[in-house]
Amino acid sequence: MNKKLKNIIAFTACVFLGSMFFHADAQTIYNLTPVPYQVIQKEGVYRFDGDPKVRYVAAPPGNMLSESYILKVDKRGVTIISFDQAGAFYANQTLMQLIEDNTIPYCEIHDYPRFPYRGVHFDVSRHFRSIDFLKKQIDAMAMFKMNRMHLHLTDAAGWRLQIDAYPKLTEFAAWRPQHTWKEWWAGNRHYALKGEPGAYGGYYTKDEIRDLVQYAHAHYIEVIPEIEMPGHSEEVLAAYPELTCSGKPYTQGEFCVGNDETFKFLETVLDEVMELFPSEYIHIGGDEANKEHWKKCPKCQLRMQDEGLKDVDELQSYMIKRIARYVESKGRKVIGWDEILDGGLAEGAAVMSWRGTEGGIEAMEMGHDVIMTPGRYCYLDHAQDAPFKEPESIGGYLPLDSVYVYEPVEPKMPKDKLHHMLGVQANLWTEHVVTDAHAEYMYWPRTIAIAETGWSQPHKKDLQDFRRRALLAIEDLRAKGYETFDMAAEYGERKLAQTGLDHKAKGCKVFYNRPIQEWYQAAGEATFTDGVIGGWTYSDNRWQGFLSDIDVTIDLGEVQLVNYVGGTFMQLIGPGVFMPSKVDILVSKDGENFTLVTTVWNDVPVTAADLLFKDFSTICDCKARYVRYHAYRSTMRGFLFLDEVVVN
Ligand code: ACM
Repeated sequence: MNKKLKNIIAFTACVFLGSMFFHADAQTIYNLTPVPYQVIQKEGVYRFDGDPKVRYVAAPPGNMLSESYILKVDKRGVTIISFDQAGAFYANQTLMQLIEDNTIPYCEIHDYPRFPYRGVHFDVSRHFRSIDFLKKQIDAMAMFKMNRMHLHLTDAAGWRLQIDAYPKLTEFAAWRPQHTWKEWWAGNRHYALKGEPGAYGGYYTKDEIRDLVQYAHAHYIEVIPEIEMPGHSEEVLAAYPELTCSGKPYTQGEFCVGNDETFKFLETVLDEVMELFPSEYIHIGGDEANKEHWKKCPKCQLRMQDEGLKDVDELQSYMIKRIARYVESKGRKVIGWDEILDGGLAEGAAVMSWRGTEGGIEAMEMGHDVIMTPGRYCYLDHAQDAPFKEPESIGGYLPLDSVYVYEPVEPKMPKDKLHHMLGVQANLWTEHVVTDAHAEYMYWPRTIAIAETGWSQPHKKDLQDFRRRALLAIEDLRAKGYETFDMAAEYGERKLAQTGLDHKAKGCKVFYNRPIQEWYQAAGEATFTDGVIGGWTYSDNRWQGFLSDIDVTIDLGEVQLVNYVGGTFMQLIGPGVFMPSKVDILVSKDGENFTLVTTVWNDVPVTAADLLFKDFSTICDCKARYVRYHAYRSTMRGFLFLDEVVVN
C-alpha cells in the first residue's frame, strides 16, 4: 500500500472513530422522553466534576409559555431559560436525562408542553396505598413532566380521607373484613370497625395529605381529590344510612337527592377537602349512578316536582349543578366523569371523558374544559400483554403501543374550541390490583406513553423511536426500584391477529340466520369471512358479539371439497363472555337441505377465571357450497364472541 493511501485510510478511520465517539457521547440527546419540541445538537461535550454548572435565567413575561424552557449546554456549562419555575423544573428533568458519566452533550433545546394537563389517576379506594407509594409515583411522574395526580379517594370499597365532621367515614367506612376487593365484592360487601381483628383498609390523615400535597407541589404536580357522588357511595351510606332513600344501610349506592341532609353532608365534606387540597379543580365523580331508587323515593320525587325536573337524569344534574355552584362559591371549579353531561351540564364544570371521546367533544362544543381519558387508550387496568403471561387485570388488552398511538385531538372536534382540550390522563382502577408492585407494573411504562402524548407535539411522536426510549426509561426506573412491566419480554398480540388468515371462505357472502346485534358489530356482515382474526380483547373491533345464538350460513360460491370448518370463541367471565354450549356444523349443496357434519361440545368450565380461547372446529371430507355454523348461547347466557368462520 502506498504511503498516500495509508494516510487516507488513517485519516478516514480517525474521522470515523471521532464521529463515533461524538455520537456515543451525545447519545442521550436522542433518548429524551417525552421528546422535546426542538433539539439542536452541537459538536462537543461538557465535562464536569461533582455537579454541573447551571445558570438559571428568568425569561421576560410574554416571551414564553408557562412550563416552557430553553436549555443550552456549551463549554461554560448549562444555561436554563424559563418564564416560570415549572419551566426551570422541567429543564432540570431534561438535564438529568442528558447527563451520562459526568458529561452532557453540547446542545440547545427549546421545549414546551402540548397540553397543560398531564395526569395520572390513583384508585386508592379499592386497595389502599401508602403516602410513600404515592410519593414514589410522583417522583416518576415528574421525570416525565406529568403535572396532575388525580386521587380517587372515595368509593364503595373504602373511604380514604379524614373528615372531622363525619368520623364514621374513617372509623368504619374505611375498613372491610376482606383484604382483597374481589373477596369483599364476592361477599356481602360490608364494612368493619377500625382496629377490628382482620380489618383491611386505611385512610389518609389531614397531616399526611398536607405532606403529600406539599411534596407533589415541590414536583410541580397538583393533587386533585375526587369525592364520588351521587353513586359509588355505598361506604358513606353504610356509615350514614340516613342519607339513603330508605334510611337503611346496605340498600343503595347513591345519595338520596331529595334529602337536604345529603347536601349538608357533601358541602361539609367538600369544605374540609378544599381546605386540604388547593387544586383548581375538585373532582366530584358523577359516574355510573343507578337512579332507580330515586324513582320510588318520595323525597326525590318531591324534589323533582319542586324543581321542575322531568326525569332522574335531570335530578342527578340538579345535584351536580348545586354542588358545582357551592364549589365555585369557594373559588374552585368542579370536574366530573362524562355522565355529568346527562340531564344538563353544570355551568363551568369540566368533563373527564372516559366512556369514549364523544362526551368530551360534546362538552367542548358547549364551551367546557375537557380532559381525555378514553377507556380504549387510557385505562391501564387492562392487561398490557398476552393474558397467559400477565398478572390479574380487569381483562381486555391495552399494550404500550395502543396507549401511545392515542391522538386526543380528533378531526371532528370544533376547531374554535380546541383550547378547551386541556389534556390527557392515565387511569388505573385497582379492583384486581392488590399490591403496590402490581400497581407499578400496570402504570409503567404505559404512563410514559401518556406523558409523551400530553407533552410532545404530534409530529414529533414516533412509535418505534418511543419504544426504544421507553425501554431505556424502564431500565432507569427499574434501577431506581420501580417494579415495571418488562418490555424486553413482551409477547405481543395474538399471532394470527397480527398476520390475518387466508382460507377458502375468505371474502364469501355470509347470511345471518339471526341478526347482527348493535353492540359489537366489528366489520358487520364481512366479519366472519374477512380473514381478520381477533386479538386478545373482544373490544378490538374484530370480534362480533351476540347476546343470543350465532347462526350463520356461508356461501362458498360453488360446490367444492370441504375438509375443515372452525371458529374460535373466547371466555372472560368477568364481563359475562362465555363459550357456546355447543356448535352445530352443517353443510349443503343447494342451501336448502343441510346435513349435520358434527356437533362440537364445550368442555371449558363456566367458572374458569382466566381469559380463554377455544376452537369449535371439525375435520371433514364433504362436498358443499353452503356451510352453516350455529353456536348455541351458553347456559350462563351472557355474550358470545366469534371473529372468523374458517373453511378449508
Ligand atoms: C369510570 O371508569 N367509572 C369513570
